[in-house]
Amino acid sequence: MNIILMGPPGAGKGTQAEKLVEKLGLVQISTGDMFRAAMKENTDAGVRAKSFMDQGLLVPDEITNDIVKERLLQGNFGNGFILDGYPRNVFQAESLEKISEELNIKIDAVVNIDVDFEKLIGRLSGRRICRSCGATYNLKFKPSKVEGVCDKCGGELYQRSDEDEETVKTRLNTYVEQTQPLIDYYTNKGELININGDQAMDDVFNDIKTQLEK
Ligand code: AP5
Ligand code: MG
Ligand code: ZN
Repeated sequence: MNIILMGPPGAGKGTQAEKLVEKLGLVQISTGDMFRAAMKENTDAGVRAKSFMDQGLLVPDEITNDIVKERLLQGNFGNGFILDGYPRNVFQAESLEKISEELNIKIDAVVNIDVDFEKLIGRLSGRRICRSCGATYNLKFKPSKVEGVCDKCGGELYQRSDEDEETVKTRLNTYVEQTQPLIDYYTNKGELININGDQAMDDVFNDIKTQLEK
């Protein structure tokens, strides 16, 4: 099963992807994570992506479509893949359709996690991520057992660099202007599954699982 996971910044895409990987054996393909890894390694794509990410803007489509295509070409998807944070505008959605046709890949569902905007800011400011394994925590909603240390691997927890107030505001605006139109786009195609993301993490996951099983 191949799915697209959509939702505003802080909706819980990464959190739910982590569960889908663990419980359903899917592979996570997060464009945000791939760009952060590229930045760390100072690759061409990483250097170009950095200035956009630091401002909370979308990385140009041609760079983004290329890294997704490259990853999809590699295959090795276990029980399927989760596109986390891609596509993020109509042009990317159309590109994905072309890529899928070329590679003979089928997207089975588009899952949209819906959360009120006021809640997102609180979630993002409390988020902490493991430097070693990428697991996601939250100071308030999902604290690690020992502060600053990953429960799973003992790695160091850090805060992302695009989490200051101004950048978060820009990310939310970018979402409204460019990504939200995709809700109509996929609704019109009859492919959208809407999930209430304003519940406990496990309840969100159970809703996603139930809907996917249908
Ligand atoms: P990306 O890394 O994708 O960031 P994002 O979309 O802003 O989303 P986040 O990762 O911040 O949130 P999330 O939904 O994964 O939430 P999480 O599970 O962590 O993109 C970053 C940047 O990369 C973009 O700004 C852009 O520049 C670039 N980029 C990426 N993709 C691109 C593309 N396709 N095209 C162009 N540019 C692209 O949860 C957040 C927090 O809330 C955590 O602390 C978590 O523990 C907590 N939480 C989760 N669920 C719940 C719950 N149910 N209740 C309480 N707390 C919860
Ligand atoms: Mg994420
Ligand atoms: Zn870890």
